[in-house]
Amino acid sequence: MTTTQADTWGLHESQFWLRGKQPEQRVHHAADLGFWNVYGHPEAEEVLRDPATYSSDTTRVIPKEMLEDQGVDLEAMSAGNLLQLDPPLHNKMRKLVSRAFTPKVVADLEPRIAAVTNEMLDAAGSSGRLELVEDLAYPLPVIVIAELLGVPASDRHLFKGWVDKLFDSSEQFSLKEQTEGRQESVKKSLEGQKSLVEYLGKHVDERRKQPREDLLTKLVEAEVDGEKLTRNEVVNFANVLLLAGHITTTMLLGNAVLCLDTHPEWDERVRADRSLVPPAIEESLRYLSPFAAVARTTTREVELGGSTVPADQMLMIWVAAANRDDRVFAEPDTFDPLRDPNPHLAFGRGIHFCIGAPLARLEGRVALNILFDRYPALRTIPGEPPKFQINPNMTGVRELPLTTA
Ligand code: HEM
Repeated sequence: MTTTQADTWGLHESQFWLRGKQPEQRVHHAADLGFWNVYGHPEAEEVLRDPATYSSDTTRVIPKEMLEDQGVDLEAMSAGNLLQLDPPLHNKMRKLVSRAFTPKVVADLEPRIAAVTNEMLDAAGSSGRLELVEDLAYPLPVIVIAELLGVPASDRHLFKGWVDKLFDSSEQFSLKEQTEGRQESVKKSLEGQKSLVEYLGKHVDERRKQPREDLLTKLVEAEVDGEKLTRNEVVNFANVLLLAGHITTTMLLGNAVLCLDTHPEWDERVRADRSLVPPAIEESLRYLSPFAAVARTTTREVELGGSTVPADQMLMIWVAAANRDDRVFAEPDTFDPLRDPNPHLAFGRGIHFCIGAPLARLEGRVALNILFDRYPALRTIPGEPPKFQINPNMTGVRELPLTTA
């Protein structure tokens, strides 16, 4: 593997997914953690395309005592959580939210995304410095998703506090020994989750009394098979959208800018030919995949990549590693926006393929073009390296100081 600037900043060292570089590790049993890692691209696709064998309901295999010890009310937390549902319920719920994310709804957001981007950059001032995450990459996607849902975008500092609690741990998830560090991290994450759920619950109750023109009201009024969603379902549904809808896109924006910073020859080409913005975003999603891993559980014993995985096992599908599989991507550690095809798995595959992908891509395209228009040069600052997410399941910057001079 080639050494890049990102290696010197320590990004790769901290990334669990790079362990998958050896062929014999493409499907790897992490006995100490009690689950399986899937690092290979064909193997990851095989899993993601077969929901009957690989269920998204991870609660099936987490020992009940472990959840009880941590005070998790499974029933309340799982209802309506699209990410954890299997067919046939998944299809029904997904249809609901798909109606809210039609191509037209997303395309119509373009002027608003541009306006918010410009507002944020105006507010950041003209000091010659930007902290890209704080000044743009965090607020933009949060404002967009909050406005869609119908919760006040001005509450974003609250969401940030709660979401930081969810992901502010470098502990790898484990089904085995719950060390103090792991317990602490789960406790913090549950606190964040609880606050978000309470917050959304209040808004859902308000919409029941007083409908508005927003996505929360649509969810409250929606019917699946003639039945309305329960309060828990609406809240969890909104929770997934709010969470999935911002932290990942924040990383996408930061990572795309960082990829261009570390590859100045591409920065120059993309700035000169804006038709390269979308492929540069796709390549940055492959190269630094924000949502590094997704989880599944086996419903039966199955052969995968030469290993026999028993029934009721948890698997972590490292899409970030699969996106560097040299069986699928030539020179996988080279950032090349002209790679064609680029079948990266950063948005998943199959029935759970990311519903927000068109929105994330649009936000990326609009924001990157505006950054190029406003700042002829945008560079990392010597002595002020970016900081990365510490959660091993995420690959992305969380602080990116830049000079605009
Ligand atoms: C699902 C990544 C942005 C909403 C997923 C999955 C991935 C992903 C990998 C599949 C999970 C699985 O298979 O278990 C990303 C990345 C994003 C992004 C990398 C930004 C760069 C968004 C946005 C929204 C969103 C902007 C909403 C506005 C969702 C939802 C699902 C999902 C609701 C669940 C779909 C289902 O289970 O059927 N996302 N996402 N995501 N994403 Fe995204």
